[in-house]
Parts: sequence; C-alpha cells; structure tokens
Amino acid sequence: MNARDLQRMLGSLPLGGLRYFETIGSTNDEALAWAAQGAPDFALVAANAQTQGRGRMGRQWLTPPGSALAFSLVLRPTRREQDLPPLVSGLGALALCDALEAHGVTAQIKWPNDVLAQGRKLAGVLVESVWMGERLDSLVLGMGVNVLPESTPPDDQVRFPATSVAQAGGAVDRWVLLRDILAALVRWRALLGQAAFISAWERRLAYTGEPVQVGRDSEPPLMGVVRGLGADGSLRLETSPGVLQSIRHGEVHLRPARV
Ligand code: BTN
Repeated sequence: MNARDLQRMLGSLPLGGLRYFETIGSTNDEALAWAAQGAPDFALVAANAQTQGRGRMGRQWLTPPGSALAFSLVLRPTRREQDLPPLVSGLGALALCDALEAHGVTAQIKWPNDVLAQGRKLAGVLVESVWMGERLDSLVLGMGVNVLPESTPPDDQVRFPATSVAQAGGAVDRWVLLRDILAALVRWRALLGQAAFISAWERRLAYTGEPVQVGRDSEPPLMGVVRGLGADGSLRLETSPGVLQSIRHGEVHLRPARV
C-alpha cells in the first residue's frame, strides 16, 4: 500500500486528511501530534507496521508488517459530542463489528473496548483525548485489528487469548476492511449516544447474562453478572441478586469469571 492508492481507495469517505506510513512508532502518537497542530476532523493516520504500538493501561500492542490493521482517527467533537468521550470506544468497537459481519465474522464487544471472535481478542480500541483547558479539543480513536494469523500473539504472551480475522473465518483484504470500518464509523457517529446506538452496542456485548470479574485500578475486583448497558454506555453489573451496579468507563478490565 502507499498513500496515493489508499487515498483513492478511501475516496468515498469524508476524510479530513490522510497520513500513511510503512513503519511508524505509534499511529496514536502521530495522530495526537497532528491533532495538536490542528488536524481536521476525521483525519486518518494508518500504518503497515508499528514499532511502539500502545494498548490501554500502557500495554504493548504488536503490529507486525503486512498482517494487521493499525490506524488512528482524529475526531473533532461537535458541541453535542463534548460530553460523549466514554462512548467513543464503543463507537469504534461497534463499527468494527459491523464491518466484520459483512466479511463473514460474527464479533462481540468485551466492554469497554475489545472486540472478540469465538471468545478470543481480535482487536482493541484505544481512545485518547486532547484537552484545551476545560474544553475537549479532539479525540484520537486508535484501532488495532489482527487480520492474518501472523499478527496473532501466542497465548503465552498475552493476558487474554487472541485471534485474527482469518482464524475466525473471515477473508478480506485489510484495506477493504479499513474502508468498511470507517464507513460504519461515519454511520454510527451520527447516532452516538442515542438509544439506537446504545442498543446496537448492547446487542454486541460479550458475556451478557454470564458471570464476570471486573478488575479496577487499586480496588478489589468486582464479581457480577453482565446485565447490559446504561443509557450512558456504562456496564450494568448484577453484583448480587437484584442489585445492579454501573461501571463507568475507565481503567477497568473485564474477564469471564471462569478464566
Ligand atoms: C487495547 O486493546 O488495549 C487497545 C489496543 C489499541 C492498538 C491500536 S493500533 C493503532 C493505534 N496505535 C497505537 O499505538 N495503539 C492503537
């Protein structure tokens, strides 16, 4: 791939700009720097490979060449979107699920930001914010998708077992997948925070009705049964019969209770 061909391939989308790299440290870092310099809404940074890819909670994210998707999108929040950043990981995950479905993979969202296929992690979303004082200036939505088996880390190197689009039965060129994800992002963004958005996200939620453990920073983990999403995208966890607790997006990680 090169910048010109990618630009042509994504020509039907309302991109605010495009930067393509054969190899980069992290597309999120590049997008954050671009955002700070005034990148327009929906400016895209994509790379064939990353050497310093980052996941949530400072974890490393591997993007070997030729086998994965790694991209970051600058979003300039509208006034309506100013209060909605916690929903943006859901936006990314939902768009990916829709795009995968069109290529034969049924995926689920492990709240708040992982996309699973057959119970294994296929992709992750990392949303970072740029603030100007009290005002949210921009968001960077980064996504890493394992497309071919070469991009799937072995089980003994990850905290949660991984898979790829190909291993989950999908057959799609990664740049076609990128185009479809971006198109789905445009569609869902228009509904961000609305009931239709929350219910679509909820339909994709992994472990609904199942016991899970929610790990939180410096607090003991919470055990409970997943009961869907609140109107604000928080996770509804039934911690004892009839008692629902709302878990807000933050430094949390969710595990099936049996693992
Ligand atoms: C996670 O599962 O913790 C989130 C992983 C996000 C990885 C993507 S790859 C593209 C973008 N650039 C980064 O450095 N990280 C995100």
